[in-house]
Amino acid sequence: MNASQERLETLFAIASDISSTLQLEEVLQRVVAHASRLMDARVCSLLLIDKEAGTLRPAATHGASAAYLAQPDREVTASLTGEVIQTGRPLYIPDVRQETRYPVSELARREGLCTLLSVPLRTKTAIIGVLNVYTAEPRRFDENDIRLLTLLASQSAIAIENARLHRDEMEARERLRQSEKLAALGKLSAGFAHELRNPLNTVSMLVYAMAQEIDPHGPLGADLQVVQGELRRMTLLIEQFLEFARPKPPHFQRHRLEEILQETLLLIGPEARARRVAIYTEIEKDLPRVWVDGAQIKQVYLNLLLNALQAMPHGGKLTVRIHASGGSVLTAITDEGGGIPQDVRANLFQPFFTTKSGGTGLGLSISQRIIEGHNGQIRLFSQAGVGTTVVVRLPR
Ligand SMILES: Nc1ncnc2c1ncn2[C@@H]1O[C@H](COP(=O)(O)OP(=O)(O)O)[C@@H](O)[C@H]1O
Ligand SMILES: [Mg+2]
Repeated sequence: MNASQERLETLFAIASDISSTLQLEEVLQRVVAHASRLMDARVCSLLLIDKEAGTLRPAATHGASAAYLAQPDREVTASLTGEVIQTGRPLYIPDVRQETRYPVSELARREGLCTLLSVPLRTKTAIIGVLNVYTAEPRRFDENDIRLLTLLASQSAIAIENARLHRDEMEARERLRQSEKLAALGKLSAGFAHELRNPLNTVSMLVYAMAQEIDPHGPLGADLQVVQGELRRMTLLIEQFLEFARPKPPHFQRHRLEEILQETLLLIGPEARARRVAIYTEIEKDLPRVWVDGAQIKQVYLNLLLNALQAMPHGGKLTVRIHASGGSVLTAITDEGGGIPQDVRANLFQPFFTTKSGGTGLGLSISQRIIEGHNGQIRLFSQAGVGTTVVVRLPR
C-alpha cells in the first residue's frame, strides 16, 4: 500500500469511528482526538458557530491547556478563523507567533503553538464551524495534508449534524413526555382541588359561626381571625387553581370595557383605600364595544389591579387608561410600584410563580390564557423604581 492509500484507509476508519455514536459530546471529542493524531498536532480545537450570539464557541479541544480553554468566545466576523467561515477556504499560517492578525499570539507562544491549519466544517447546506490544528514546530502543510484534513472535517461536520438532529429529537420527545405527564397530573390535581372545596366550605362556615359566638377581643378571638384569614387564602388558592386547571370556554357577548372596568374598580375600592392608593381613570370617548366574556375580562382586570395595588404597599397612584387603536381596544394599568426585576420577568406567566408570601402565582397565567382565548395580547412594561404598566389588547 502506498502512503496516500494508507492515509485514505485511516480516514475511512476515522470516519466510521466518528459516526458510530450519536452522542454529540462524544462525536466532538473523537473528531479532535483523531485530527490531532492524524496531523501529529500539538493542539487541535473545534469551534462551532453560535448563530444567535454570532460567535465561534470552542466545542472540543485536544491537547489544550486550561488557559487556552478559558479564552472568551470569538466574534465570527472579528477572528482569524472567522475568515475560514466567511471564505469557506482552508487557512494556513506558517507561524502564528509572528502573525499580527492572530489575536492571541502571546497565548500561542506560551502554549508552544507554531503552525496553524484551519479548515471549515461544512455540511451539505452550511458551514457550522472550523477545525483547527496547531503544531509545536514549524510545519509545511502540503496540498495533500490540506485535502486530508478537509475530508476529515467534512465527515466530522456530517457526524456533528446527525448528532445534533438526534439530540433535538430526543429533547422534543422528552418535552412531549413531560407535557403528557403534566396533563395527567393537572387532571388529577384538579379533581383533588375540587374534592377539597366542600370540606373547606363546611369548615369556613362553622368557623364563621364560632366567630359570631365569641368575644373578638377575648383569648380565642385573635386566633380565630388568623384561622379565618388562612381559610380565605386556601379558598382563593383552590378557586384560582380550578380556574387554571379547568378553564371554561369564553361566552362572547358585546360589552363595553369601561363598564367592566368600573365594576371591577368597585370591588377593589376598599383594598385601595386601605393601602392609600389613589385611582385615576382616563377613558377615551365613544369607545367601540368589544366581543368578550364579561366575567372573564373582569377576572383579568381584577388580577391586574390587585397586582398593581400589591406593588404599592406604601400607597401611590394607580392609573387605568382605555383607548382604541387600529382594530383593537387597549387597557393600560399603570402603578408606581418597585417594578419587576429581570429574573422575575422571565417567570411572570409561569403558573405558581410568585414573589409574594401570600401569593398563588396564578393571576398572570390565568389572565394570559383568558386574553389569548380572546385573540388578544397581554404585555408588561416595567422600570425599576418607576413602576409597571400592563397593557391588555383586545380585538374589537
Ligand atoms: N404590577 C406589578 N409590579 C411588580 N411585580 C408584579 C406586578 N404584577 C406582577 N408582578 C410579579 O409577578 C408575580 C406573579 O404575579 P401573579 O401571577 O399575579 O401571582 P401573585 O400575584 O399571586 O404573586 C408576582 O408575584 C410579582 O412578583
Ligand atoms: Mg396576582
